[in-house]
Amino acid sequence: MKILFYDTKGYDETSFEKRREEFPEIEIDYLKPELAPNTAKLAKGYDAVCAFVNCDVGTETVEILHQCQVGLILLRCAGFNNVDIERANNYGIRVMRVPGYSPEAVAEHAMALALSANRRIHKAYVRVRENDFSLGGMLGFNFYKKTAGIVGTGKIGAAMARICNGFGMHVIAFDKYHNPDLEFVEYVEMEELLAKSDLISLHCPLTDETYHLIRRETIQKMKDGVILVNTSRGGLVKTEDLIEGIRARKFFAAGLDVYEEEKKNVFEDRSDEILESSITARLLSFPNVVITSHQGFFTEEALASISETTLENAMAYMRRKKSGNEVDGSNM
Ligand code: NAI
Repeated sequence: MKILFYDTKGYDETSFEKRREEFPEIEIDYLKPELAPNTAKLAKGYDAVCAFVNCDVGTETVEILHQCQVGLILLRCAGFNNVDIERANNYGIRVMRVPGYSPEAVAEHAMALALSANRRIHKAYVRVRENDFSLGGMLGFNFYKKTAGIVGTGKIGAAMARICNGFGMHVIAFDKYHNPDLEFVEYVEMEELLAKSDLISLHCPLTDETYHLIRRETIQKMKDGVILVNTSRGGLVKTEDLIEGIRARKFFAAGLDVYEEEKKNVFEDRSDEILESSITARLLSFPNVVITSHQGFFTEEALASISETTLENAMAYMRRKKSGNEVDGSNM
């Protein structure tokens, strides 16, 4: 079976090559460019393509993959909002993902962002390097006995709920499905979560329903001085409205691993470029905002699990079996 990898970084190749001798039937070629309409035709002659979060696997790309007779799209990530699933399924192209490679990796990063933003660790780091040991502007608040609001209690949200519980926080959550493993969590409606939470952490997928879940109208319902953390997908938060809320002193802090205009930035060194939009720069200008570059997943354990599951997904496809990691209408 021949797989063409797109958007490959050195660490992807290293972690997949470590595993590959366990899967001698699989042949992999690695490409640096992302999968998009202008690169999809390179997949001619391959059985499968392997893509990451920021690849454009929309309608046009799927059409080209179909023309190239590619039968499988392997996503080496959990989210699949960048794929036209319906079109792929209609063409009989199987789409498979890695649903829970290391929920703790992302949840721990979410808490790291919450703590950094709250205690202004990003400011302190720079200040102390300049021999400035003053504390002005560094005042934070205890998480202990405060309320954490978790939006989406799937695998990552559940891990974040456990971490918050460990901090001695009261944990409330909003999700259509109540996770029976989280007996310490109080499920509430979204309105109540917005009104009561001192820390709001987003862990639901990006869908038509959740697009701009956090916007002026929902921000207004939040408690003053709330901390917002988004490690899920940029489109969940309307950035312009977040900026407005930060300016209005609604937020004590924000920690973002994902944001709307991240697409061109993710995993790229753009330090020599003049960036085309100022939204990220505006967000970074605030002393109470911490941004990281979609690195929630980036731990050794997560990379090992991603390569193992992706290759197992490929084997299941080859053996005409289901692995349970197929994405179709039922899990959208
Ligand atoms: P999951 O599928 O286990 O859980 C998602 C949960 O969200 C489910 O319980 C679902 O019922 C709930 N949900 C769906 N719509 C909702 C809504 N409107 N309001 C509240 N809850 C809703 O997914 P998992 O593995 O926990 O991942 C969550 C998200 O995290 C992914 O969709 C992805 O976007 C993001 N992610 C980010 C990473 C990073 O590196 N920053 C890495 C991996 C995932």
